[in-house]
Amino acid sequence: MKTQSYSDRDRRNLWHPYTRFSQAGALPVIVRGEGPYLVDIDGRRYLDAISSWWACALGHGQPRVIEAIRRQAGELQHSILGNLTHPRAIELADRLARLVEGAVRRGQGAAELDEDYPETPEPTDAWRVLFASDGASAVEAALKIAVQYWFNQGQTEKRLFAALRLGYHGDTLAAMSAGFVPSFHAPFAGVVFPVLQAASPCCGTCAWGLTPEFCGSACLEELRLVLRSHAHELAALIVEPLCMAAGGMRIYAPECLRQMAKICADNRVLLIVDEVAMGFGRTGRMFAFQHAGIRPDIICLGKALSAGYLPISATLARREIADTFSDLPVDRTLCHSHTFSGNPIAAAAALATLDLFRDERVVAQAVAGGALLVAELAPLAERAGVRNVRTLGMIAAVELDPAPDAAAESARAARLRERLRADGALVRPLGPVLYVMPPLTAPPEALRALAQSLVRAVEAEA
Ligand SMILES: Cc1ncc(COP(=O)(O)O)c(C=O)c1O
Repeated sequence: MKTQSYSDRDRRNLWHPYTRFSQAGALPVIVRGEGPYLVDIDGRRYLDAISSWWACALGHGQPRVIEAIRRQAGELQHSILGNLTHPRAIELADRLARLVEGAVRRGQGAAELDEDYPETPEPTDAWRVLFASDGASAVEAALKIAVQYWFNQGQTEKRLFAALRLGYHGDTLAAMSAGFVPSFHAPFAGVVFPVLQAASPCCGTCAWGLTPEFCGSACLEELRLVLRSHAHELAALIVEPLCMAAGGMRIYAPECLRQMAKICADNRVLLIVDEVAMGFGRTGRMFAFQHAGIRPDIICLGKALSAGYLPISATLARREIADTFSDLPVDRTLCHSHTFSGNPIAAAAALATLDLFRDERVVAQAVAGGALLVAELAPLAERAGVRNVRTLGMIAAVELDPAPDAAAESARAARLRERLRADGALVRPLGPVLYVMPPLTAPPEALRALAQSLVRAVEAEA
């Protein structure tokens, strides 16, 4: 096996993130992507059932993105945005501002905008766009923009953040402070900064035993209390819209997000909507916040922004927020950047990705694919040992009854991962939650085969 020829070197020097070395075995050496599949060095094909950490929303090998990268690399590989500019960053900021503004309006009922690609036909100054490379760096920027926004207005006491328990926003220190997941971040409990936390919703396993139609968002009482009592010192609330992904695919009703936006507005606290995982069609609309009909204050984008071709992320701030960063009469310039912010090749990949979303009706494909997963996985809901089956857009999660302890949980997750791999699908369960987030463009036969593999794997465990 050719895999073997890499194994020793891999084990000697390569640090695999979120990987238990004792369980890793000889890892598949992935050498190629073909549509929704990844192919290893020995020619085995696997469905990329989590879209390579949710980034490769269009699968692999998209000729238009590849060509855009090739063309841009030949013209200009990098140039900074400090006191300089370049066409791809300008074009991408324009496109993102129009797409986000269109999504806000479409979410609020603007029927003239295309549901699958709601870009406004005219340019808009409603949003200013700051580029970075990864989701976590978009979150860091969002948090800093929120604090400086209040600073710019002399309200230096408004510098704390609120967040939902089990939210996840990335692994850098501030992102980790805002999204502290104990099972990931426990060693860093002593270095994260304090963030006010409130209970998070998950409608499928509602802690109050209620259903979304009649619950009155009881789960948000704590959040209401926290924001009301700390309004004077809170800069922002940061949330994952509609699905708290890494914390266990905790899917919640749009009404909850609408309520969160209202609680923020009532208390003069900015709302940061972290769309890094949910943005670009994953939930069955271009952005998750659209379902709730809200206008967020700050939005973080990443992952699928370039369909997983190159690292690029973006933080969008409402014009009223961005306008406080003027340098006259007092200098309030935002001093925050990374070397590769707005990299031209990554921006070119993102522009080509947006073209594909528009031309290939990708969001509609996600809606159809999601409906297929719902139908195929429905029987699992009745099975003993299955606590909950939940779906949203092209996300499907099966939560099993908890294992007796952390070691058993981890061993079960490893068994599920390996069983599915043997069945031709790459997954990474989150504790008791076995989930899939396949490429939005995966064809029906691939999704059907994936669902059947999931059913078999769960039946072997539950
Ligand atoms: C909601 C959310 N925000 C931020 C991040 C961090 O993104 P990155 O891993 O690109 O830093 C993630 C990653 O999974 C995420 O799910």
